[in-house]
Amino acid sequence: MDIFRKKPIWAYESDAKKNELKRVLGKWGLTSLGIGAIIGGGIFTLTGIAANIYAGPALAISFLIAGIGCLFAALSYAEFASVLPVEGSAYAYAYGTIGEIFAWFIGWNLILEYMMGATTVAVAWSGYFDKLLHLFGISIPYYLMNDYPTAVKIAQQLGEAAPGFAVNIPAFVISWIVTLILIKGIKEAANTNNIIVVLKVSVVLFVILVGAFYVKMENWQPFIPEPIVDPQNGDTRYGWQGILTAATIVFFAYIGFDAVSTQAGEAVNPKKDIPFAIIASLLICTLLYIAVSLVLTGMARYDKLDLKAPVASAFAEAGIPWATYLITLAATLGLISVMLVMMLGQTRIFLGMAKDKLLPPSIFGAIHPKFKTPYKSTLLVGAIISIVAAITPIQNVSEMTSMGTLLAFTMVSIAVLILRYKEPHLERPFKVKALPLVAGGGALFNVVLMTQVRNETWHAFIIWGILGILVYFIYGYKHSRLNELTSEKENV
Ligand code: ALA
Repeated sequence: MDIFRKKPIWAYESDAKKNELKRVLGKWGLTSLGIGAIIGGGIFTLTGIAANIYAGPALAISFLIAGIGCLFAALSYAEFASVLPVEGSAYAYAYGTIGEIFAWFIGWNLILEYMMGATTVAVAWSGYFDKLLHLFGISIPYYLMNDYPTAVKIAQQLGEAAPGFAVNIPAFVISWIVTLILIKGIKEAANTNNIIVVLKVSVVLFVILVGAFYVKMENWQPFIPEPIVDPQNGDTRYGWQGILTAATIVFFAYIGFDAVSTQAGEAVNPKKDIPFAIIASLLICTLLYIAVSLVLTGMARYDKLDLKAPVASAFAEAGIPWATYLITLAATLGLISVMLVMMLGQTRIFLGMAKDKLLPPSIFGAIHPKFKTPYKSTLLVGAIISIVAAITPIQNVSEMTSMGTLLAFTMVSIAVLILRYKEPHLERPFKVKALPLVAGGGALFNVVLMTQVRNETWHAFIIWGILGILVYFIYGYKHSRLNELTSEKENV
């Protein structure tokens, strides 16, 4: 049994030539997709917990650490994308370097990053949408805005009897809206994304530029608060340990730059433009995030920052209540583009796996004759996300999303080094300098972050992994295109 067989590099070239998708994305369109996926719930929500409980004003250092770690991974992705311009992303990179079973395992875990990521964002979106409606004085019964277990908790808090049923309708509806845009075409998806990106980046700039006038220097004193031990759970808050914990939390805010690599089939010039867009989107967001953290912790004392909506509340408290409308609107719309790019990425990774026949090509590889999009796969992904988001309380799934992503980043860092040594003469339009350092740094950083994840998440991750291996042996191994690839080469 050869579960470690590798996909030959020539097969990637022939896949790229047979591309049926529409090539419409230039380098700024791709960069915009990256930013569309990156800026979302992370910066608008997690900054509250990260600063208030763990890092204090040093949240900016946490963002810097997480940003540098991601930059290592981004450089590895960029080199790979310049050599293997196919839509499978980390899955495809592993297939050519470390072997089929690893590639399958990564592809399986990318479902956590992309599909579970989009599901988390759909539920988070519903929360923001609810807030937006409240701002305009509209209120909808909570059992139509939440899944059943969450609705029961809300009923308890309100001192009411549990509702007979509950379903998160906004999460369901937004999942279908995004699905339909994605089926309609890549141009439509990219245009929707561009509009949202302009809006959310403008609001982030507004937060930085206007917020800067409300910064009080004394709020930054001390910049790194003295560490204290939480008497309840023994966790260390603040100090350098707190800064590191906060870095693992805000890591989520950076997820998304890698989604650019799934757009190889829709990029006009993938070998050059995808590496550019991966790095540009990450650098732009890193700068914005660091600036937002400084402003936020300067506007309000860190231990007074709101845990759920820190950015909007800081402005309300600074005496600019109308900014709350603007920020809530930007966050609500901003999350739609995160979902859009995550779902886009998921279907393109499935497409890559279907081309290799590790997934059924009749479903995951079917391209719509007119729209040129993988419509069956998009419908299936949309249906799953909408149903799960409508009925599941999603407290901890952001950690599963991070876990799947961290594994992919680690593997890509290792695989890029293997490819450099195994195939040193391949043309590399984007070649990382001091690769062993960058790749080693990337792998180390991501493994360290994985060790910080809670045990519960590890257990869920292991069960998910075992399920994935079973599916591989039941389906993928038998159907793999590598079983027939030798004869394919003879026909080339
Ligand atoms: N980076 C994305 C967000 O923060 C996943 O929502």
